[in-house]
Amino acid sequence: MSRQRLYINIDHVATVRQARRVAYPDPVVAAQRCEDAGADGITAHLREDRRHMQDADIVTLASVLRTPFNLEIANTPEMIALACRLRPHQVTLVPERREEVTTEGGLDLARDPEGLRRALAALHDAGIRTALFIDPDLRQIERAHALGVAAIELHTGTYCHDPENADALHALQTAAADGAARGLAIHAGHGLTLANVGPVAAIPTCEELNIGHAIIADALFHGLPEAVRRMRTAMDAARPGLAP
Ligand code: PXP
Repeated sequence: MSRQRLYINIDHVATVRQARRVAYPDPVVAAQRCEDAGADGITAHLREDRRHMQDADIVTLASVLRTPFNLEIANTPEMIALACRLRPHQVTLVPERREEVTTEGGLDLARDPEGLRRALAALHDAGIRTALFIDPDLRQIERAHALGVAAIELHTGTYCHDPENADALHALQTAAADGAARGLAIHAGHGLTLANVGPVAAIPTCEELNIGHAIIADALFHGLPEAVRRMRTAMDAARPGLAP
């Protein structure tokens, strides 16, 4: 089992800034502090309504990060064109509804597969690694594989909502094994906290976690570098025997 990557989602630094429409706190500086503290990559979601990250943030992140930049976007012509122009390391396609508080479910890959195929081809041609955010559902994994994407990010929300629900964890474990057996890289995220990350971090084929809200919240009490280190420690504790 190799070391699992921790990608930190910095959207909620921008949420605090946008609450007052001022210039601070700067999510780009937060991203750099996360990198200094050991993040393996940075994730940011540019939403259609621009409720947290702004276009200028994404443009700056794409040029200043030392670690890989994972841009989360919906499959719209505007977002795909922006990604192809900025060429982040990775694009994760996510579903998006304006009225939702946060991304509430994975993509349904049965809807508009041709549109997805076109978007993935455009991103691929721009040299961008692609991932699809999906529920831990074996039919979705089969479709992701058929679309030729490099990675799937498994939606951990159902498990995080009730970590005692053995079925929800089992669904993630089964989905990860199935996706990996098909040659897909396995990522996971949404709702992960220090308290619930262990069983997901322990899934052997899961190579990357995307975690935001809990780390930014923890940073209020412990500071951002310490919040990053605490999550890293919790992930490593779930995979004993690995070199730090
Ligand atoms: N992965 C995806 C696809 C997401 O949309 C989000 C939230 O923006 C996350 C991971 C991170 O979720 P959280 O902020 O709950 O850790």
